[in-house]
Amino acid sequence: MSAGPQISASILNADFSRLGEEVERADAGGADSIHLDVMDGHFVDNLTMGPVVVESVRGHTRLPFHSHLMISNPLALAERFAEAGSDLIVFHVEADDDADAVIAAIELSGRRPGIALNPETPAAAVLPFLDRVDLLLVMTVHPGWGGQPFMSEVLPKLRELRDEIDRRGSGLPIGVDGGVNLETIGAAHAAGGDVLVTGSALYSTTGDLAPTVEALRTAAAGARRTSG
Ligand code: DX5
Ligand code: ZN
Repeated sequence: MSAGPQISASILNADFSRLGEEVERADAGGADSIHLDVMDGHFVDNLTMGPVVVESVRGHTRLPFHSHLMISNPLALAERFAEAGSDLIVFHVEADDDADAVIAAIELSGRRPGIALNPETPAAAVLPFLDRVDLLLVMTVHPGWGGQPFMSEVLPKLRELRDEIDRRGSGLPIGVDGGVNLETIGAAHAAGGDVLVTGSALYSTTGDLAPTVEALRTAAAGARRTSG
């Protein structure tokens, strides 16, 4: 992953009637990865996309696919999201399955594992897994919908996790997901976020996304990293 803030395009707020084109729009606009929000109507109160959707847009870009599994049973479905073309498969530490087993299943599928935590989940819950994953995803909204306000009360936990990762010297990238826009991306990056997931802030733009992606990246890069 190159240095500097990464802009990850969450397609949840894109036009689903032409999802392939929307993925291409993010790619042409300079996004660094595509974020695919998978919801099962059980772990969260919404139902979005399965492996068939991931597979249907895989051919529209060579950008990395980060599949964010907001599902109760990632163990049963990880391999299918791998086969569909996900590069990084992120599951929630609050899911029903044993996290070590899910990480092993994702590794066995030949893809990279990531782990996510909800706003109310303490940092301690993910510490045992930080050396076994390729992305830590910190939720700054309660998962389930795009377009929600950024929860700044999560920033101290983000700094705590950033300091812990820096102390370990692992260089594990941290993703920040939920309510990230021009007003909030600076604080998210300054507190330690590397991969900034943007949905409504990006796809509320019609046409060329490049000016929006550049404005988001500049706003992030302009914010100095602060420690706790
Ligand atoms: C919410 C999802 C997010 C969401 C981001 O549960 O995990 O990825 O789509 O969208 P915005 O940026 O609009 O909050
Ligand atoms: Zn997400």
